Formats: sequence, C-alpha cells, structure tokens
Amino acid sequence: MYEKFICPVCGYPLLMENSSLKCGKGHCFDISSSGYVNLLNKGGKKGHGDDKKMVRARRDFLSRGYYEHLKEALKKAVGGVICKNAAILDSGCGEGYYTSGFEALLKENGGGEIYGIDVSKEALKPAAKLCGNVSFAVASAYCLPFEKETFDIIISVFAPLAADEFHRTLKCGGFFITAIPLEKHLYGLKKAVYENPYLNKPENTDLKGFKLINGIEIKKELTLKNAEDIKNLFMMTPYYYKTSAEDQKKLEKLNELITESEFLIIVYKKI
Ligand SMILES: C[S@@+](CC[C@H](N)C(=O)[O-])C[C@H]1O[C@@H](n2cnc3c(N)ncnc32)[C@H](O)[C@@H]1O
Ligand SMILES: [Zn+2]
Repeated sequence: MYEKFICPVCGYPLLMENSSLKCGKGHCFDISSSGYVNLLNKGGKKGHGDDKKMVRARRDFLSRGYYEHLKEALKKAVGGVICKNAAILDSGCGEGYYTSGFEALLKENGGGEIYGIDVSKEALKPAAKLCGNVSFAVASAYCLPFEKETFDIIISVFAPLAADEFHRTLKCGGFFITAIPLEKHLYGLKKAVYENPYLNKPENTDLKGFKLINGIEIKKELTLKNAEDIKNLFMMTPYYYKTSAEDQKKLEKLNELITESEFLIIVYKKI
C-alpha cells in the first residue's frame, strides 16, 4: 500500500518507514491513526472539502442503500474495462461508499492496487474505516500526488473533474469513468421545495484528451421513508446552499418523498 504516492513538495517517490512516508530529500508525512496520509499541496487546493455535517449527511443517506443500484452499475462499468493487477484511483472519494465497491471488485478480479484521494480529511476518516485495502490521502484532484501514467482506471463520482490531471496520471489507453445527473434527476425533491422547479440542463460530455466509449443510463424512482433521509439527500445537493431557510423548512414537514434518480455513467478512454 501507499507505494504510488509521490512527495507533494519535491515530487520524489515516497517510501514507507514505520508509519510514515518519506522521500529522498527528507520530507516526511505521517499516516494518521485513522488510516490516511496528508499530502495536500496548498498550491493545488481548489474547491472546498466537505465538512463534518455534509460528510455525516451523505454517509447516513448512502448507508440506507438508496444509491446501491448506482454503486453496482459503477462497479459493472469499471469491471467492463479492468485489466489484471489494475491500478485504480477514486478521485474525490468522499466517505468511500463507491470506493468500497471498487475495492471488492479488485479482489474479485484477482488483486491490484486502489487509491482514494479527497481534500476533506473529515471524509477520509470514515473512508479508511470502511475500506481496509485502499491507500487514502488528503490531496486535491487538481494536483495529484502521483507520477504520470500511474493508473489503469480513474473514477470521479460527483467530485471535481480535473481532466488535465486525470489525463497526466492515467496510463496510455487507460480509462476515466464518471457519472453525471440527467434531466429529471431529483425532480421530485426540487418540486417539494421550489414553486417552479427546473429540469437539469444536459451537460457537455466532450472531454479534451479523451474519447467517450460508453454511456450507461441508470434510472430509478426513490421512495424516501422519513424526514431525516429527505434532509440528508437535500444536503448532498448543490441546492442546499442556494435555498432559503423558509423553502428548506417545507422539507421538514414531509415524512415520505418520491423522486426520480437519473444518472449517466460515462466511460472515457485516454487518447
Ligand atoms: C459530492 S461529494 C462526492 C463524494 C463521493 N465521490 C461520493 O459520491 O460519495 C464531493 C467530494 O469531492 C471532494 N472535493 C472537493 N474539492 C475537491 C478537490 N479539489 N479535490 C479532491 N476532492 C475534492 C469533497 O470533499 C467531497 O468529498
Ligand atoms: Zn520531498
């Protein structure tokens, strides 16, 4: 584990010494007792990491299995392009919900190496608890602490899409897999909050340096069974920050919510 990380200060390889990673120039990074290493290069920090409240909301929501079908579909998409002894990165891995699926897949596939990075150490604490065989680091997707051409597959689920860094750190012919919301994703949730809800705009799927080789639509109606799950789902969305306290209160009165979930999983190949 941890072998593929490079020093965020000088770029030299990091070697494990006791419970630290050290480079040839003497820079040293301790592996925390929770099971991650902090390799955040301040220059590369863009976007904000999720705080404790958001991490808890997402972890609670996902642990109820509402997005189990997406986890399975992502696993299948990764399984469709995986090679022997694959090196995989989950970028912006959060609490490791999907990462744990890729970890299981690697095992089923006969082994390999899996890494997870996120700018939020609050997210990595539960992630490291959930996934015992994943090497986790606090790092930014915009400044990945890896050599060029390290990974066979990079996955980024609802996290910043750092196309240049993904391209740099993927091997020649490697795959990048992501998921985006489709038009009616969470329309029922928006209808419960807004007077005039809008449909999501179709996203541009072109990605410089990559060829789109597969798009898989995943659609399922969700029935949320209590106010807590409804609030947690709302907190996972970008609307959470844009919605007035008054509109948010409407959700507190609900004990059930039926809403669409619609995703497109996209598989790209590095060209
Ligand atoms: C919506 S969450 C998705 C987490 C996980 N992939 C999932 O779907 O459960 C977005 C994650 O991206 C992380 N993040 C934000 N900016 C980042 C950056 N520049 N580099 C890496 N991760 C980042 C956040 O801390 C958060 O954990
Ligand atoms: Zn160094």
